[in-house]
Amino acid sequence: MKYIGIMSGTSLDGIDAVLCEFGVENKLQVLAKISLPFESQLQQDLQALLRSFSCHLKEFGELEVRLAINYAQAVQQLLNNARIAPQEVNAIGCHGQTVFHDPYNQYPFSLQLVDGNKLAQLTGINVVCDFRRMDMAYGGQGAPLTPVFHHYFLSSNRTRVVLNLGGIANITILDPNTSKVIGFDTGPANCLIDLWVQDKFGVEYDKDGLLATQGKIIPTLLERMLKDEYFNLPAPKSTGKEIYHLEWIKQQLLADNQTDATDHDVLRTLVELTAKTVSDAICAYVKPSEVEGIYACGGGAYNKFLLEQIAKNSSIAVRTTQELGIDVDQLEAIAFAWFAKRRIEKLPANYESVTGASQKCILGALYEVC
Ligand SMILES: Nc1ncnc2c1ncn2[C@@H]1O[C@H](COP(=O)(O)OP(=O)(O)O)[C@@H](O)[C@H]1O
Ligand SMILES: [Mg+2]
Repeated sequence: MKYIGIMSGTSLDGIDAVLCEFGVENKLQVLAKISLPFESQLQQDLQALLRSFSCHLKEFGELEVRLAINYAQAVQQLLNNARIAPQEVNAIGCHGQTVFHDPYNQYPFSLQLVDGNKLAQLTGINVVCDFRRMDMAYGGQGAPLTPVFHHYFLSSNRTRVVLNLGGIANITILDPNTSKVIGFDTGPANCLIDLWVQDKFGVEYDKDGLLATQGKIIPTLLERMLKDEYFNLPAPKSTGKEIYHLEWIKQQLLADNQTDATDHDVLRTLVELTAKTVSDAICAYVKPSEVEGIYACGGGAYNKFLLEQIAKNSSIAVRTTQELGIDVDQLEAIAFAWFAKRRIEKLPANYESVTGASQKCILGALYEVC
């Protein structure tokens, strides 16, 4: 059974897509994979939207169609690479582009843009999207969703921690002694680091963490940042770029009187913020000596310096999911291919222990080809 998964996260670095074959007992084979940059104007418009969090309704509607067109190009390339016809694919699981995630207010919602109708029409393949809101309808956070996938595909007879380092960081604790999976967003992973280096160094991201190695931690600033209320909230919890944006950093600097701090020192402090919040979250649930390892995925898994700091803070060996046979860039896309399969088979795809929903739910809306 072949499924396609498409993921584009809040880092806005592009579209990750995979074509997978799922066999019996969760046997997984990745037949083709692709990382496609966003079409340039689309990327700029999404970046502007994720800075201002506001837009005209016309722009909003158009963005859904433009995303569907760009996602369809990724699908086309995947099918070409694998020499497979659309009719051979059961469905596409498309996460869509998160532009607002708001689980805490009176009317909680999470908004992922994509016109599923257009994506189905362009590809000739049934599409599943809108994966988060049924969980929210049942009182859940709608995030993170991948812990269920981690549980099915990455569990072993020793305790493992899966750590996704995208714009936001999320952890999954896989303890073989309990069926209760713990997983939640710990806070920022790359989002603050990216925004800072884009603003101060004119680069998209801090490649391998090299710029950060040149700075020193500013202890008072770190302490102040760690007091942010999200870090002290109990799980289930989830967050997004609406909270952790450039203004957040500027407010912290101002409150700590850090007008003279060097750009490198602030960057180093932001790396430590991610390392420490991730490590504290993990160590609240496991004894380091009992853990086989932390398995990192997402783009942050390339940031060697960040991984070293997580290992130092947690006293747990940090590896990547590559060692478990899953490409760090593709894990989330593979998860959404599998979520599409769950939807088509009408099987639940959330855990109450992770999202806080009142029950298990079938996730995703299905757009069928005419
Ligand atoms: N070589 C690298 N060194 C440091 N950071 C990297 C590297 N490659 C990717 N990244 C980081 O990973 C981010 C993309 O990660 P990704 O998992 O795709 O996040 P998202 O799900 O938000 O799109 C980039 O914005 C960047 O911060
Ligand atoms: Mg990405």
